[in-house]
Amino acid sequence: MSEQSATDYTQVEGTPPDQDELTSVFVGQNRIAIANTGGSYYAFDDTCTHMGCSLSDGDVDADDVTVTCPCHMGQYDMRTGEVVGGPPPAGVKTYPVQVEDGTIRIKA
Ligand code: FES
Repeated sequence: MSEQSATDYTQVEGTPPDQDELTSVFVGQNRIAIANTGGSYYAFDDTCTHMGCSLSDGDVDADDVTVTCPCHMGQYDMRTGEVVGGPPPAGVKTYPVQVEDGTIRIKA
């Protein structure tokens, strides 16, 4: 059997989030947030770069495609991970994600 290459998607434990909801999963040691906006899924580092709060406890805005940190209202664009509002000093890393038949796969 061949090993998975670094470019492969990895299937992760967890249930895909409902509409306009977030969840978090682990890929190795990395905790990654996954958001669902109308059936489009976004994956990004779950740890806010401001003071480390969990972005998966935050709120999704489907229109702006942003996530708002629950601690100090930092906002990130979920497509790029860039900061679009509030105090975070840096963006978060984003990851390609696939959700199919209740299964989550992330390229991390
Ligand atoms: S910890 Fe996220 S905005 Fe402060």
